[in-house]
Amino acid sequence: MRAAAWSSPILVQQAIDRGFSPAGVRVGTVTTMAAIALVAIVVATWAQRTAVARLGRRSEEALYGLRVRLFEHIHRLSIADHSEERKGALVARVTSDVETLAQFFQWGGLAWLLDGTLMLLVASVMLAYDWVLALVAFVVAAPLGYVLRRVQSHLSRAYDAARDRNANVMTQISELVAGAETLRAYDAGPHFAEQVEQASHERSNSFIRAGTIGAFLFPSGEVFSVFTVAAVVSVGVLRGPSSGLTAGAMVGFLFLTYKFLEPIAEFTEVLDQTQTAVAGMRRVLGVLEIPIGPPEPDMPVKLPAGSLAVTLDRVDFSYRTRGDDDEPPVLLGVSAHIPAGQQVAVVGETGSGKTTLGRLIARLADPTAGTVLVGGVSLTRVSNADLRTRLTVVPQEPFLFEGSIAANLSFARPKLSPADLEAAIDDLDLRDWLDTLPDGIDTEVGQRGTQLSAGERQLVALIRASLIDPAVLVLDEATSSVDALTEVRLSHALERLASGRTTIAIAHRLSTAARADRVLVLDHGRLVQDGPHTELVQREGVYARMYDAWVAATSAG
Ligand SMILES: Nc1ncnc2c1ncn2[C@@H]1O[C@H](COP(=O)(O)OP(=O)(O)OP(=O)(O)O)[C@@H](O)[C@H]1O
Ligand SMILES: [Mg+2]
Repeated sequence: MRAAAWSSPILVQQAIDRGFSPAGVRVGTVTTMAAIALVAIVVATWAQRTAVARLGRRSEEALYGLRVRLFEHIHRLSIADHSEERKGALVARVTSDVETLAQFFQWGGLAWLLDGTLMLLVASVMLAYDWVLALVAFVVAAPLGYVLRRVQSHLSRAYDAARDRNANVMTQISELVAGAETLRAYDAGPHFAEQVEQASHERSNSFIRAGTIGAFLFPSGEVFSVFTVAAVVSVGVLRGPSSGLTAGAMVGFLFLTYKFLEPIAEFTEVLDQTQTAVAGMRRVLGVLEIPIGPPEPDMPVKLPAGSLAVTLDRVDFSYRTRGDDDEPPVLLGVSAHIPAGQQVAVVGETGSGKTTLGRLIARLADPTAGTVLVGGVSLTRVSNADLRTRLTVVPQEPFLFEGSIAANLSFARPKLSPADLEAAIDDLDLRDWLDTLPDGIDTEVGQRGTQLSAGERQLVALIRASLIDPAVLVLDEATSSVDALTEVRLSHALERLASGRTTIAIAHRLSTAARADRVLVLDHGRLVQDGPHTELVQREGVYARMYDAWVAATSAG
């Protein structure tokens, strides 16, 4: 359609000048011209359709590839440098950036291509037709582009502000819904309702403002095109037939002028979109340049078969999530040798670095100094795939995906038969627990597993870990309190799972520590005590104090 646009005015001119002679209407000429116009339009429409479809497919493919690469990249970013929240923020940002790019390709990019060619074509036909009229049209239309551009950038800023305000209201409302219980307990409803009202007011004001600017945009485009056409008509008429301008040429030229003005409004809008898209592309490339987590070794060493020892050799670690280099060390000079098959408990105050130590043993991050060895091999020389089948972590807050318990178990070993799954459950003596659930193993766990208690989520995670049948087990006990029955089940299942494996249990309940072969005590990132429970309780020190406090607390409760 658009490509045919520049040719129709010529045909109109021909039809008028040749078809309407003083001698009368020449039907043949007019019909021929109409037929040529029809063919031109059909061919141009088909060509444009094909081009748009092909461009659309190419850009969708490219964007798909980009999305996959981005999410893979973010997923692999080191936990030492990027907290989960930061990764979440990155995902959110990248999603919206890629969306901007997609919109640009769907519309802005096409507009550049199609409108750009059209405008150039029309402008050159105009110049060829009558360069004086063409210049008049260009000069009068020039301010249009400028004014539209200004109004549009105001408009897009106003809409950005309005969207921010809208998000604000949404966040406030969803917080109120989530925190309804607390609100009711303190009768704080009116206080927060006022805040929401204020935010809603700001929101509607900002939308009204954006609407007002938008309302100005449309008529200003109209006014300018009327001016331009008027100028062209006046100059054309003033110059008169003596200048050689025929009536047909005049009408044809007016058609061209309209065609020329049409894309200007769209263009100025596209310019904004292009700027946003370029900025989005820059941010996307920036994300891809962030270095990823522990690198895979070039020449991996296979972990020895059978049970594996774990050795920490003068391990230091600090998180660099704040972005500066002088973040305080979380672990300092930790050395310990855990022989194959030993059951070790790690204890310490909250924040002493226990979870972090577990992460280093599982190589979710590399130490800033020192070495972690499993089976005598430094973790930096072991491939990720090898390590994941020999060492398993049951995290402090195990993550369950929405779906049934069975689905959450089987993704650990997709090829496992239902009978093997049942066997694993029996091995950990968890049959009676599953039987208490409404649908047994098919019970839905809800989003993030919230239908289960924290202790039950750990039970699922224990079964999941047992399916891997690892040589080394790292278990981070849940901090949140667990009811007595679940606690008995947990410690019993853990005992079954740990037997015959090197186990590092990060213990929040000292009963777990009491059962272990050996206890490692962390204090502000340093290993301050190392020995069996019975020995450590006799000795002056952190452990004896923790133990006394724990005994006092449990016997009082
Ligand atoms: N992802 C992270 N990014 C930045 N700092 C972190 C991160 N995880 C932990 N820290 C910090 O490292 C220190 C040790 O945390 P860690 O989680 O290892 O302690 P913990 O002994 O497991 O505590 P808890 O008993 O509460 O589980 C704390 O000061 C904590 O704030
Ligand atoms: Mg912890």
